[in-house]
Amino acid sequence: MNKKRISEEMEKILNKQVTNEAWNAEIYLAYGAWADDQGMTGLSNYLFRHSKEERDHMMKFMQHIMQRGGKVKIDQIPKPLENPKNLKECLENLFEAEVENSEAIYKIINLALEEKDWATWNFLQWFVKEQIEEENLVEELLDRYNLISGGGEINGSDLYQFDKDLSKEEDEADIARDSSIEKQ
Ligand SMILES: [Fe+2]
Ligand SMILES: [Fe+2]
Repeated sequence: MNKKRISEEMEKILNKQVTNEAWNAEIYLAYGAWADDQGMTGLSNYLFRHSKEERDHMMKFMQHIMQRGGKVKIDQIPKPLENPKNLKECLENLFEAEVENSEAIYKIINLALEEKDWATWNFLQWFVKEQIEEENLVEELLDRYNLISGGGEINGSDLYQFDKDLSKEEDEADIARDSSIEKQ
């Protein structure tokens, strides 16, 4: 008896997303280490916490594949992005990575719709909301940065304050974590 309730193509694209989320976790880890090296401990902790959320996303995709009778294939994770030149580039790259990830998720939704795979379609709705939140989180940081810098680079006491404000933002990151796999 075949208990598999996702198509081959769906299984493949969902597994690809497992790797994608793991890759995002790696990016946040790498950038967190970079931020620490730059002396930005507020940003560093913020990024490390976020890395954990990306890992939770990875687990959610794995669980869905398993629950639908599919097979999880853990693949090699691509190298994270190169270290950014500065804080501006750091935030811009993170924003782009989040938008790219949303697009990858929308592709899976399109396939679910095509295949009338409503179980997967329903599962993905959580991610639609989560990605709106994630894009907004980074966008807000970028907006705050641009406001302070007026388009250029920030340093000195402005940079210190930006980093210090981030260290107070634990609760905001926790909101996204509330819906993580551990709390279900
Ligand atoms: Fe994610
Ligand atoms: Fe994300």
